[in-house]
Amino acid sequence: MTSQDIQKFIQKNKLRHLSNKVLHTHPSPAHWLKNFSYNDIKENLLTSEGEKTIVNMYVGIPYCLPTDPPHCGFCLFPTEKYNGKKDTSNYLDYVSKEAKLYKDFYKNSTIETLYIGGGTPNLLAPPDYYKLMEIIEYLFPKIDNSIEKTLEGIPQLFNEEKIKAISNSGFNRVSMGVQQVSDKLIKASGRKQTRKQVFDAINNFHKYDLSCNIDLIYGWPEQSIDDMLNDLREITESGIRHITHYELNIAGRSDFATKQKELVASIPEKIIMYQVAKEYLLDQGYKQRTVYDWEKCDITKESRKSDAEKYLYENNLRDFLRDDEVAQTSCMGGLGFAAINMRMKPLNSTTSSVSSMNHKTLHKYYDDVLMKKLPIERAFAHTNEDVRLIWVFQSLQEMKIDVAKYKNIFKRSLKEDFSNIWQALEREQWIEFNDEELRLTGVGEFYVPLIQSLISKSRVDEIASEQSILTNVK
Ligand SMILES: C[S@@+](CC[C@H](N)C(=O)[O-])C[C@H]1O[C@@H](n2cnc3c(N)ncnc32)[C@H](O)[C@@H]1O
Ligand code: SF4
Repeated sequence: MTSQDIQKFIQKNKLRHLSNKVLHTHPSPAHWLKNFSYNDIKENLLTSEGEKTIVNMYVGIPYCLPTDPPHCGFCLFPTEKYNGKKDTSNYLDYVSKEAKLYKDFYKNSTIETLYIGGGTPNLLAPPDYYKLMEIIEYLFPKIDNSIEKTLEGIPQLFNEEKIKAISNSGFNRVSMGVQQVSDKLIKASGRKQTRKQVFDAINNFHKYDLSCNIDLIYGWPEQSIDDMLNDLREITESGIRHITHYELNIAGRSDFATKQKELVASIPEKIIMYQVAKEYLLDQGYKQRTVYDWEKCDITKESRKSDAEKYLYENNLRDFLRDDEVAQTSCMGGLGFAAINMRMKPLNSTTSSVSSMNHKTLHKYYDDVLMKKLPIERAFAHTNEDVRLIWVFQSLQEMKIDVAKYKNIFKRSLKEDFSNIWQALEREQWIEFNDEELRLTGVGEFYVPLIQSLISKSRVDEIASEQSILTNVK
């Protein structure tokens, strides 16, 4: 990109709500191919390279309770309407069938973390949590029981009976989507949760020794800075040591994007909210791990929680090429509806690093699993340039890039790669460069999604044009 193009891109997007704030990677799944070669992708997915294979396992649960407006007004994650207990138990039968397709692949690998996401995993009934764990133990019979094992859910479904089953079946961490503590503001999303349910659940997490992350969203319709601070204060005072404080992502056909846009905070307002929240959380003793993640680690504590207080799942997905270790394949192992699989391999591998996404239509997922076919909807084989872009993309999330690590892994200079972009960002005073690291500064932190888009723009344009050529030829 020329300096002028970069400047134009920054000016055009500075005041826009970007749509890549929650589920982001390079290239976006929108660019993964639907007409991929099944045999090639299967071979890439089922081949490990290097001396070891480490796995961060994800299982997707598709179902959510209905809301008015639909999809909680803001959510772009693929989901299915829940019709009762039978749905989840039937669904887990398919997940266990899908797991069989990967049995050989995971045979000699090590599982480092487990994350059950969705959708709404705490819609599962108590026996289902044990069934889920059996699937994981079937794939990883030598699983170390102390690894971080997380289950996501919503406040009103975390009753004591479920929390007990979640804990007894082997989970040691939960991630609760609160979004807004205020009973008044949460109404905009149609979610039927109350402030009381939030804190009852938190008390029970403490009682059953579960580590807990809370998701909050700022920039919400009609939310003032005081409302935001009030949420943060109540959550920090309840003893929660990991908070994900997302900026509201306004995009697509969501109700917030189409009908409530004038009620949500503007970009300049969100920048102030980001800064006020940062100051508050630092003052309360939280460490900022990424643009969104705040934590108070207490890993010396004598409790099974200590294994779950490292928040490794998210960290491992960012740090997938470790420069100080033997060559390895780093997997995000996905199972279930819309689950993502990634195989990041050493740079000189003979098979490609590859990403794939399972079907987002439940009957298609079921049909493929019944035919003993990997239930993939779309996939993408990465070039070494893509792997490098993913790595930079993920590091930016942590608001800094280690110059020596980049050199060590890619044998290239970070300063020279993307030099036009760095110069433009220095002019905006969004980054600082020294011999050791590139660091985001000031409002640069808030603009991470914009900077990520800028970094991958040339390659994404190239991919889009290759794909349009392919489509025209076919
Ligand atoms: C898979 S989602 C939902 C988990 C759970 N079903 C819930 O609703 O709490 C995980 C998190 O992504 C965040 N999220 C989803 N859509 C978002 C959006 N449009 N803007 C900001 N954060 C969003 C929410 O904080 C949410 O808790
Ligand atoms: S419950 Fe969670 S996953 Fe389901 S629609 Fe709402 S935000 Fe999205």
